[in-house]
Amino acid sequence: MRKVMITRKIPEKGMQILQRDKQAFECIVHEDDRPMTRKELEKSMKDIDAVIPMLYDRIDDRLLDLAPRLKIVANLAVGTDNIDIPACTERGIAVTNTPGVLTEATADLTFALILSAARHVVTADRYLREGRFNGWDPLLFNGAGLDGKVLGIIGMGRIGRAVARRGRGFDMEIFYYSRTPLPDDLASELEATYLPLDDLVKKADILTLHLPYSSQVHHLIDKQRLNLMKPEAYLINTARGAHVDEKSLVEHLKSEKIAGAALDVYEHEPMIAPGLAALNNVTLLPHLGSATDEARSAMAEIAAVSVSDILTGKRPEYILNPEAIKF
Ligand code: GLV
Ligand code: GLV
Repeated sequence: MRKVMITRKIPEKGMQILQRDKQAFECIVHEDDRPMTRKELEKSMKDIDAVIPMLYDRIDDRLLDLAPRLKIVANLAVGTDNIDIPACTERGIAVTNTPGVLTEATADLTFALILSAARHVVTADRYLREGRFNGWDPLLFNGAGLDGKVLGIIGMGRIGRAVARRGRGFDMEIFYYSRTPLPDDLASELEATYLPLDDLVKKADILTLHLPYSSQVHHLIDKQRLNLMKPEAYLINTARGAHVDEKSLVEHLKSEKIAGAALDVYEHEPMIAPGLAALNNVTLLPHLGSATDEARSAMAEIAAVSVSDILTGKRPEYILNPEAIKF
C-alpha cells in the first residue's frame, strides 16, 4: 500500500480526501504538537511514496537521498523556499504548493498588522489589562491615520494585489515594486504606481513585503534600506522572515529610527531575534497569515488532492515542476 507522510496534523478536509478510499493510501501523521526533528524526518523517509510537509520542513538533497520511493512533495503552503525543487525534478519527484486559496486570508492579516501597528492595538490592550487605563486621555496612544498615506508594497503577486485593493479601501496611495511591473490595465485598475525599490522604501508610510523568498532576496530589507525608511514609517512582514535583517531591525526599533513594525514571520522561526519581544513598537504574531478555517482547509484539500493525483497517475493542478514527470 502506498504511504503518505504528513508531518503535522492538518485540517480534516485533507485527511478525508486521503482516506476516502481506505485501500488506497496509508497515512502516517506526525501527531505531536511540534515540528518533527530532522532526525525523525530522516528516519521516516525510507518507504514513503508521498509527503505533505510543513513550510519549516527542509526538503533538501540529503533528505531526498533517503526517500527512494518518493513521488511527490505536496507543500502545505504557497511558499516553497523550504524545498530544493531542482533536486526533486532530477529525481522525478513532483512538487506542488497551495496558491490562490490563502491570498485573501494573508491580505486580511496584513491589514490587521498595519492597523495594529498604526493604532497601537496590541500595546494598548496590554496597557488596559495592566490596570493602567484611568480615563480618556487626549494624548493616549495617538497613532497614525491611514487615509492619504503611502502604502508601499514589495512584490505584486496575488497577495500584494489583494493588499493593494484593501489599501484603496482605506483611501491610501498605492505604490509598489516588483521584479516585473504590472501590465498597464492591472496597474490602473489597482491605481498602483511602480517605483524602483529604494525609491519605494523612501516614500512608504507603510512598507509591506509580499514576495516569495529565495537566496537572491535574502535580507532585501537590510540595514541600508532600513536607513532609507522615513522615521514615521512602519514595516510589515507577512512573507518570509529572512527578507529582513532582523538584528538590524531590532536596533532600528530600539533607537526609534522608524515608528514601528509588525511581523508575522521571522528569520529563524520559531525563534525571534534577541531584544525583539521586549519592544513596544512592534507587533509579533506566530506565522498566522493563512490561518483562517477557510484557507487552511482549502490548503489541506489542495495538498491531499495533489498527492492523490500523483499516486494515481494524474497531473496535479498546482505542480511547480511538470518537467519532472511524464503524464
Ligand atoms: C505561508 O507562509 C505560506 O507560504 O503558505
Ligand atoms: C499568493 O501570492 C498566491 O500565490 O496565492
